[in-house]
Amino acid sequence: VTQLTVLGGGQLGRMLALAAIPLGVDVTTLDPSTDATARTVSRLTVGDLGDATAARTAATGSAIVTFEWEGVPASTTRELEESGWIVRPPTTALEVSQDRITEKTTFTALDIPVALFAPVSSRAELFNAIAALGTPAILKTRRGGYDGKGQAVIETEADVDPAWDALGPAASLILEAKVAFDRELSIIAVRSVDGDVRTWPLVENQHRGGILRTTVAPAAAITTELQALADGYARALLDHFSYVGVLTIELFQVGNTLLANEMAPRVHNSGHWTIEGAATSQFENHVRAVLGWPLGSTDLTAPSVMINCIGALPAPETILAIPGAHLHRYGKTPRPGRKVGHVTVTGTEAATLAARVDQVRAVLPADIG
Ligand SMILES: Nc1ncnc2c1ncn2[C@@H]1O[C@H](COP(=O)(O)OP(=O)(O)O)[C@@H](O)[C@H]1O
Ligand SMILES: [Mg+2]
Repeated sequence: VTQLTVLGGGQLGRMLALAAIPLGVDVTTLDPSTDATARTVSRLTVGDLGDATAARTAATGSAIVTFEWEGVPASTTRELEESGWIVRPPTTALEVSQDRITEKTTFTALDIPVALFAPVSSRAELFNAIAALGTPAILKTRRGGYDGKGQAVIETEADVDPAWDALGPAASLILEAKVAFDRELSIIAVRSVDGDVRTWPLVENQHRGGILRTTVAPAAAITTELQALADGYARALLDHFSYVGVLTIELFQVGNTLLANEMAPRVHNSGHWTIEGAATSQFENHVRAVLGWPLGSTDLTAPSVMINCIGALPAPETILAIPGAHLHRYGKTPRPGRKVGHVTVTGTEAATLAARVDQVRAVLPADIG
């Protein structure tokens, strides 16, 4: 039996384990919560992700360790490496993704365009940065933000002081120009140990309140040039890190250009559609990559729309009665703003797919999706 250890036992760890099982791979996970959702499909060690001893316990019996959360402290993956484990993706990529400044500096060094930005560590620096970048702008914590948390939009000068008061005293910050994007896209890519790079088609992501609500795969009206641009950015990052595994880049499309927003050194919510809509899912290809196995085809097999269930779940029978609708429940207790499941709707004909999406939306509780 091949065993793989995943640091983190959330829904991404759960779906990694679900992809690993048919390949005969047993997954062990490390998560601070006793009811981590991956517990039903993996052997869970309960412990802090910053606790190297707990990580060694979780990794006992595995040669290879991966992670499903970019908040895993780099000290943990380093200690595992020093104790002889192979960690994939590389710790360097994990660290870069943890700091919005390092991330944007890395993008820039690889000729990947980003929004104008400036580091901010005092109220005076914030005023200087606003003078340089103008408004509207977004103030963000450099580290630890997710689902739009740790951000304040500055539309006018009047918003500057409140934004500083909300975020500044507690953390190092970054100010970014607010991009008037046409739409948000993401590229999901995977690199094998041998350097084989594959990408899934560009997808469109719709956010509300900083949280991903819907992913449309493939994104409409993607030219071969735009796909090639995104593929090139993904390849540049993957090769830069000698990366192994799945990497996601969140992008803003402005006309024919793409600005990189952030990267995630892991499988990503905007890739959940690949379970039903692609020849090989992001989860299976991540498992294949980190275990040193050949990658599977990333071809799209069915146009798909993924709708997140945020804070509540529909009754299963209402979704399952709809043709082409695939229900995923994560087994998590619903709370406002919490991702507790998703529905992927597939359909070969555009009109059929749209009708099915309408049917799904009609039965979802109001605050979902
Ligand atoms: N510079 C920006 N310009 C315009 N919109 C932005 C900018 N930064 C973030 N956003 C919006 O906020 C969402 C969440 O921000 P993001 O930086 O991706 O943080 P998180 O780590 O919470 O995902 C983005 O998907 C986008 O909709
Ligand atoms: Mg994001």
